[in-house]
Amino acid sequence: MRRIAEVGAAVIGTGFIGTVHVEALRRIGVHVRGVLGSTPERGRVRADALGVSRAYASLDELLDDSTVDIVHVTSPNHLHVPQTERILVSGRHVICEKPLAMTAAESAGLVALAERTGLVNAVNFNVRFYPLHQHVREITAAGQLGDVRFVTGHYFQDWLLLETDWNWRLEPDKGGSLRAVGDIGSHWLDLVTFLTGQPIVSVMADLATFVPVRAQPRGPVETFSTDRSVDTVPREMATEDVASILLRFANGARGSLAVSQISAGRKNSLQWEIDGAAGSAAWDSETPDHLWLGHRERANELLLRNPALMGPAGRAASVLPAGHVEGFGDTFGALFRAVYADVAAGHPAERPPYATFADGHDEMLVGDAIAESARLGRWVDVDRHQKRPAAEQAVEATR
Ligand SMILES: NC(=O)c1ccc[n+]([C@@H]2O[C@H](COP(=O)([O-])OP(=O)(O)OC[C@H]3O[C@@H](n4cnc5c(N)ncnc54)[C@H](O)[C@@H]3O)[C@@H](O)[C@H]2O)c1
Repeated sequence: MRRIAEVGAAVIGTGFIGTVHVEALRRIGVHVRGVLGSTPERGRVRADALGVSRAYASLDELLDDSTVDIVHVTSPNHLHVPQTERILVSGRHVICEKPLAMTAAESAGLVALAERTGLVNAVNFNVRFYPLHQHVREITAAGQLGDVRFVTGHYFQDWLLLETDWNWRLEPDKGGSLRAVGDIGSHWLDLVTFLTGQPIVSVMADLATFVPVRAQPRGPVETFSTDRSVDTVPREMATEDVASILLRFANGARGSLAVSQISAGRKNSLQWEIDGAAGSAAWDSETPDHLWLGHRERANELLLRNPALMGPAGRAASVLPAGHVEGFGDTFGALFRAVYADVAAGHPAERPPYATFADGHDEMLVGDAIAESARLGRWVDVDRHQKRPAAEQAVEATR
């Protein structure tokens, strides 16, 4: 068993979330050996800004660095599969950003490849790692809410409200054919599956695009950038701005999710409520240290995140004492601590506490059902069997 401080990491992608990865790794004591950007020049500039000593010129150069044990993939979505395949084949552990792949056939291939290598494989569904989410998972599993019946909520943002807002996520060949659902809905869907322990088995989805043409700047644009370029070309949009999705869970529970990237004023608003036979729970990302617990026959409660009042999983995800707010950036450290414990051991735990490639693939299958439901205008079951042959073929291709 190695110490976490002895593990060497590299980060691919130096944009919005690559920066968060580097900072969270430092906080948990991991040495970031180097970063890989879209070009050697950009990688060098970003490495200097982040205080990382090495900027790799290519993925080949990164994989030639024998001090690297694990690679974080934070590049745009279309690069996740080709980069992750090469990392696994080189014998390195991987944390890949969500969504795991562009299609469920591809993610099935990654699941099979990861299983074959025996390496640690994680998808960065960081929202699970708010300490109160770890706590809710424990109290739900212990039956404190009773049988889960109704799961509702939303994930709203506003950064794609205007026709002048642009990002690679708007291009289906880079972001995928589901946009708002794949980009942020995926977090909510993974989260409620984790919190309730119930897979989603059937969906009924309505998707809509309210900004049909957008002005694409001729140069690159940073995620969440508010700069407006004057030199643009009009681009027709093929992906959804909003989604309304009805859900059925394996235990018969029902749910609904609203997703939007055009809700003015909602910067990054994720909310959920779980109503069980014995009580309810609810959470809002804008007050991440507050958990509302609803009761029928006594006063409701508001639990402020408090290591002293949570179970072992909630405590493990907390760093600060109660009253010292933990937020988005802290979830990365909590997730990475769990992943790096497995990396130090050399293999995944029997039941990893973080989302694995199998979980990332499952979310892709739910996404497929959402897309098909919207296309057909009816309920569609999540097909958890059909994709297996493709998995074997995909692994075959990497041999
Ligand atoms: N877990 C989360 O909360 C969260 C939040 C934001 C983004 N993400 C995910 O992270 C990924 C990146 O999103 P972002 O918002 O940081 O985007 P971004 O555009 O800000 O950053 C992407 C980075 O990838 C780099 N890049 C492009 N091509 C590359 C290549 N061939 N090799 C290496 N690097 C390359 C770009 O230069 C840029 O630095 C996406 O998959 C997104 O879904 C996850």
